[in-house]
Amino acid sequence: MKRLLYLVALSGLLSGLPAQANDTNVKQYPVDKQSGLIMAPGWELVNYQCNACHSSLIIPQNGGDEAFWRETIQWMIDTQGLWDLSETWDPVLQYLSTNYPASSDIPMDIFRRLPLESDALPEKPATPGEKG
Ligand code: HEC
Repeated sequence: MKRLLYLVALSGLLSGLPAQANDTNVKQYPVDKQSGLIMAPGWELVNYQCNACHSSLIIPQNGGDEAFWRETIQWMIDTQGLWDLSETWDPVLQYLSTNYPASSDIPMDIFRRLPLESDALPEKPATPGEKG
């Protein structure tokens, strides 16, 4: 009986551990098979808006903090015809920077090869105002 109590107490302790303890809290969400997106809070907003022009698989190939994601999205708004995210800006940035931070490993069970190094990529198209 003592042993049983001990086990009950132990499992209670373990289940109470904060998810962040081992830095895998991002991975506790399943990945949606179709979009390749981590199904963490806010993923639907990204799934609705970020599949229209390219596959959302472009998202796990990139990573960065909130400033990185803000800049990437702003670039699409300024040059690629992406609409203003209006009230979804914050939850979208929150979702992306949390689940696709700079350090995130590219999931090689989804991708065939690593993306090209940025210096091997062509220049991004100029913004309309910059055209000479
Ligand atoms: C209106 C069209 C459009 C929509 C909608 C769109 N994008 Fe893009 N996005 C583009 C184009 C065009 C490119 C550049 C071409 C490419 O790499 O396929 C691009 C490239 C990217 C890149 C790669 C940037 C780089 O530096 O190589 C990422 C990451 C990205 N988009 C994320 C998103 C996210 C997140 C959303 C949703 C908020 C989104 N896109 C919605 C048009 C769009």
